[in-house]
Amino acid sequence: MLQVFYFWKAELLLFTLPTQPHRMTKITLNQVNNAFLPSREIANPDRFSGREESVTECYNALLSEGTNIAIVGNRGIGKSSLSRQIVNMSTGDNSLLDKLGIYHDETLDFLTLYYASGDSVQNTDELLNRLLTTRGGLLEWMQEVKASKEEIEQFKKESKTGLYKYLANKINSNVSRETSNTSIASNENIQVTFQNVVMDLIRSKITKNGILIVIDEFNQIPDTSGFASFLKSLATNIPELKFCIVGVADNIQELMKKHLSSDRLFAWSVINLRKMNNEDLRQIVRNAEASINNTILLDEEATNQLIALANGHPYIMHLLGKQTYKSAYLESVRNVSREYIKKVLTDIAEREADPVLEGRYRNAVALSKQREIVLKALAASVQENGDIFTTDAYRVSEEQGVENASQYVGQLVKEEYGSELIKIRDRYYKFKDSLFHTYITARPPLF
Ligand SMILES: Nc1ncnc2c1ncn2[C@@H]1O[C@H](COP(=O)(O)OP(=O)(O)OP(=O)(O)O)[C@@H](O)[C@H]1O
Ligand SMILES: [Mg+2]
Repeated sequence: MLQVFYFWKAELLLFTLPTQPHRMTKITLNQVNNAFLPSREIANPDRFSGREESVTECYNALLSEGTNIAIVGNRGIGKSSLSRQIVNMSTGDNSLLDKLGIYHDETLDFLTLYYASGDSVQNTDELLNRLLTTRGGLLEWMQEVKASKEEIEQFKKESKTGLYKYLANKINSNVSRETSNTSIASNENIQVTFQNVVMDLIRSKITKNGILIVIDEFNQIPDTSGFASFLKSLATNIPELKFCIVGVADNIQELMKKHLSSDRLFAWSVINLRKMNNEDLRQIVRNAEASINNTILLDEEATNQLIALANGHPYIMHLLGKQTYKSAYLESVRNVSREYIKKVLTDIAEREADPVLEGRYRNAVALSKQREIVLKALAASVQENGDIFTTDAYRVSEEQGVENASQYVGQLVKEEYGSELIKIRDRYYKFKDSLFHTYITARPPLF
């Protein structure tokens, strides 16, 4: 009895020690910091929320012979996360399909490579070179397949599944092997080499469905001429090879920088990721709460407030959520209210939780209260389709004492202020980037 009382007292003490936030509950700082993940795409299907329609499309595209996949959409909308789920599904993990209740009758078995091109690749040949020579790239696969020929045969005889995973683990754990980023045989045509290596891999039949190559951040490659026509020839010669191209763009033509002829479009399944719906955004909060055993809870109003502020952008949801949890944990707040979110928004701005968005905001405002009023008025006047009718924005600005709003609108188009605004036609503008538009609305005013 004494012991029970002792524990009860200890619990009580833990709740009343705001100066020792880490003792508030049994959750760790690590859990709090990783409940929301603004700076990482979601690879784990358990943490991936919603997107049922897009996931269904991706699964079907993986099943469709000769179909490549393109994922396009705005910054921070969830393209990389979806492509990670494609990687999971293509290598036999159907847990997301089960979770979302999507019908499936096949476990896929691709040899899948995921490559984020970033800004280090300049053109198509360099891209192909990287796909061959990068760590875990096609050449390593070919070497491993050759070296493991007997093992592979044995695997097949015993009809064991998961040969891909087995080899992938071997490749990844083989730390002693040096991978080069240098060009392979310079006088050899890289496209021919690429095709031969892929053909060899396909012939070795280590996977049932063929090869899938996911290229993220494709839009960052400056010169992609030749890529679409190379793909076209590959499709004819190696139908078992699939590509999934991912990047910031409004449509596939923009992603391919107009190198894709329209007659080849049928060979693509294009996923245009739009804003996330409110229920999917709500699920992000619920997943985060579950990951810290519901020790910090957002009430209904606070959750709805975050959903409204995120405006369909999962990135903003994670950014706001992370800061909310950080503050709540440090201040031993267990129930987060709408009022509390206000303080969090100020923290996000002042502590530059996203230095890039905050930098863009400050650059656009450039120490002018008037320009900030106009910027926020424009953000408040964005219509469903993204257009801004200047008359609406001028009226909002005027209500806040700015008479000459048009002058500031003219400035916000200029490079000096970040060219955040684009004129689309007479008296109509739009923001270059809906993520920034969302940030402008959520951020408390500087002045
Ligand atoms: N379906 C999802 N469920 C939960 N969180 C998600 C989901 N999709 C994206 N996110 C989160 O949103 C943020 C942006 O996601 P992601 O990096 O996938 O977007 P992106 O479109 O690739 O962004 P960028 O244009 O910057 O490359 C990340 O914090 C990620 O964790
Ligand atoms: Mg991305």
